[in-house]
Amino acid sequence: VPNKRLNGKTIVITAGPTREKIDPVRFLTNHSTGKMGYAIATEAKKMGAKVCLISGPVALTPPAGIETIHVESAEDMYHAVLDRFESADVVIKTAAVADYRPKTSYDSKVKKQEGGQMLELERTKDILLELGQRKTHQVLVGFAAETNDVEEYARKKLAKKNADMIVANNVTQAGAGFGFDTNIVTIFKRDGKVTELPLMTKNEVATQLLTEISHELEKDEQK
Ligand code: PMT
Repeated sequence: VPNKRLNGKTIVITAGPTREKIDPVRFLTNHSTGKMGYAIATEAKKMGAKVCLISGPVALTPPAGIETIHVESAEDMYHAVLDRFESADVVIKTAAVADYRPKTSYDSKVKKQEGGQMLELERTKDILLELGQRKTHQVLVGFAAETNDVEEYARKKLAKKNADMIVANNVTQAGAGFGFDTNIVTIFKRDGKVTELPLMTKNEVATQLLTEISHELEKDEQK
């Protein structure tokens, strides 16, 4: 169903995990399958938005008719998102971006040796933080995958990242978070409004979230 506020708007959505290369046969990653981000992209298109989906490596087929950019590492995702930020009206950061990557990544396979092995890590760029600093007119939405103290961490992220909304999911709850076709989320907004949603499909979560975002766009238009 087309949405008056989202119709024709440019929405950038990130999805999936990132891969941080150790050597040509090994990498660091996480459990994200891309389902949540792909569901948002699909529903946003149905509402009439111009969608750009920036996806880490996942097994899903890109939704028909949606510009999909495939990236691998947090660094790749950073550049893909930043390139499109200025012309975006809304950015939704569903991707589970690695916080750390190997300090050295090797061009040939690291051979096993006797005894243990140390892997030195360094921080990746925090994409959401950077977007929050550069934000002019965009509605900026982050996700938070937490295992405890969900509300406290979500509120901290909202402030620190200068986001307009944080969608928090407690990934220890059955039916929520990584891999499921369903999710249980709470949406924290900059104005203090909190919307707690029950267990629903990721497509239903996407529709609810996009409706909240459309209200945010409406407020901006009234300014
Ligand atoms: O893909 P699925 O299997 O469907 O699972 C969905 C999901 C659990 C991945 C999704 O619902 C979710 O919670 N995504 C965010 C996961 C995450 O990385 O959370 P975080 O708390 O580490 O990061 C917070 C926010 O900062 C996120 O919007 C993330 O995209 C962003 N971030 C994080 C690190 C980084 N270097 N740059 C970022 O922009």
